[in-house]
Amino acid sequence: MHIIRSQTNNSSYPVYIGTDFIDSGLLQTLLPMPRIVLVTDQTVADIYLQTICETLTGFSLNLIILPPGEVNKNWEAVTKIIDVLVAFKHDRFSTLVSLGGGVIGDVTGFAASIFMRGINWLQLPTTLMAQVDAAVGGKTGCNYFGIKNLIGTFYQPQNVVIEIAFLRTLPDREYLSGLAEVVKYGMACDGEFFIWLEKHIYDLINRDPNILELAIHRCCQIKLELVQQDENDHGQRRVLNFGHTFAHALESATEFASILHGEAVAIGMLLATRLAVKLGLVERELLIRLYNLLNCIGLPLALPSEISSVGALYNFMMRDKKKQAAQLSLMLPCALGKIKVIQGLDLKCLEDLIQDYAST
Ligand SMILES: NC(=O)c1ccc[n+]([C@@H]2O[C@H](COP(=O)([O-])OP(=O)(O)OC[C@H]3O[C@@H](n4cnc5c(N)ncnc54)[C@H](O)[C@@H]3O)[C@@H](O)[C@H]2O)c1
Repeated sequence: MHIIRSQTNNSSYPVYIGTDFIDSGLLQTLLPMPRIVLVTDQTVADIYLQTICETLTGFSLNLIILPPGEVNKNWEAVTKIIDVLVAFKHDRFSTLVSLGGGVIGDVTGFAASIFMRGINWLQLPTTLMAQVDAAVGGKTGCNYFGIKNLIGTFYQPQNVVIEIAFLRTLPDREYLSGLAEVVKYGMACDGEFFIWLEKHIYDLINRDPNILELAIHRCCQIKLELVQQDENDHGQRRVLNFGHTFAHALESATEFASILHGEAVAIGMLLATRLAVKLGLVERELLIRLYNLLNCIGLPLALPSEISSVGALYNFMMRDKKKQAAQLSLMLPCALGKIKVIQGLDLKCLEDLIQDYAST
């Protein structure tokens, strides 16, 4: 078991990483107040709700079960949570518990941050994506008007409990999508970790719990260090957005239906690294190593067939939150484990990049 602590100017909370937390009674000790609203999705509810509810006997519990998937990461989901909080007269002493992947975590955290200007929130992430990334760091929100994460807040939970055993039931496609985000930490922040991933990739693909715990621990550690320096994503934390401007555009352009977040991140990282090679920031060898690792994981690396025009993708990129004064800011690798922010690339350069990628 590992326990690490998130520390920001306004908050400090523990992140528990390990197995057997659910049976151990940990959750009860982390919930000081008796009133809870548990938010999950239908798929997760079918597998885990009974067990979780049994561990929470003695608490006053309201349940919210949302439809699963990115297409449901919307304002409607947020208002459903708020409506229950209002209908059952919850107050600042109530706790929202998110049991699920990044979608459930992001919408629940958003609701927790805006209800009565902020109530308690405990994260119980059940996907690899959420365990290595979404559940820590405090970015909350939902998609709006067809644009990825257009509205949201920075709001930290009080506790994060990462139960690795949840990953046993995760479908392969979802699991592998989470591995893309693991690779991101190596490429963007820690070259040694990237080399470790190259060595242990088959153990990770096979969900070896010991190797998984080490990987999750390292990802959370990297993220929390960056969040401590730059909670609101104006400086150092932005390196974690490596590949994400392309990824968010891909998800928006395909209406959140055909490509998973991690799959989009994998393509986004390849596009960003190709661009870095084109601009002379890194050697081609790094692009080949990244491609080999993502390919070995089994991620689909071709552009989705629905992307009919490069222009559509570019338009979504131009709506990215990281844009400054009408210029895109792209996080590009300048060495293994190192990222440089590049601004002011012209439309032609990006169109050529995407066009080349689509045709190879
Ligand atoms: N807040 C952040 O910092 C941050 C970081 C990374 C990603 N995200 C967001 O996270 C979202 C993606 O998260 P995700 O990949 O977890 O997707 P998800 O939440 O849609 O979950 C994936 C699918 O797996 C199912 N599932 C979840 N846990 C399961 C389990 N243990 N067993 C079986 N099925 C299970 C869910 O029902 C869902 O259908 C995106 O919206 C992304 O933007 C947020």
